[in-house]
Amino acid sequence: MTEYRIVRANILHLVGIDRIEKACFPIPWSTDLLLNSILSDEYSTFVAISGKKVIGFGIMMQNYDESHIMNVAVDSGHRRSGVGSAVMEALIDESRRRGLYDITLEVRASNAGAIALYEKYGFRTEGVRREYYSDNHEDALIMWLHLNKDEHNEDNC
Ligand SMILES: CC(C)(COP(=O)(O)OP(=O)(O)OC[C@H]1O[C@@H](n2cnc3c(N)ncnc32)[C@H](O)[C@@H]1OP(=O)(O)O)[C@@H](O)C(=O)NCCC(=O)NCCS
Repeated sequence: MTEYRIVRANILHLVGIDRIEKACFPIPWSTDLLLNSILSDEYSTFVAISGKKVIGFGIMMQNYDESHIMNVAVDSGHRRSGVGSAVMEALIDESRRRGLYDITLEVRASNAGAIALYEKYGFRTEGVRREYYSDNHEDALIMWLHLNKDEHNEDNC
């Protein structure tokens, strides 16, 4: 089992994030956009680090009072060992920390693994964007998680 920890991303992680982004997605974010997600207050980006290597990451963006999960990806050699879950937990915790209780994301309709991961955290499909992805005209599912505002928040203890 790989040992890893989840930390807030900084500029030193950019190369590792970029490598995974380009390997995982047919329409990857540019390096400049990834850099912005590390530097801008609008975003929170977390990485899973094993030794000094980035093995996964996740990005959330604050949009008024909503949290948008923009990207979650794990190096192909480290999947199905809980890294994606740990990244999701960091993004959900961060949303709560920012006072954002409605969290949304878009996912390719065929991406059963990611959908299963999101459902594990309570996300449910509430809409569809038809032929959203330009590479293969695949539909995007719009998933939402509505957190309970009154739920115990360990950060306040
Ligand atoms: C989706 C992704 C982030 C999951 O990361 P991961 O580290 O493998 O996830 P975890 O090990 O934490 O998996 C947690 C649960 O999600 C579900 N899951 C994850 N991958 C799955 C798959 N390929 N098939 C079915 N269920 C899957 C399972 O319920 C899993 O629990 P289990 O392993 O106990 O059965 C990873 O597969 C990935 O990077 N894919 C490519 C990029 C991508 O598609 N990102 C999502 C974009 S919207």
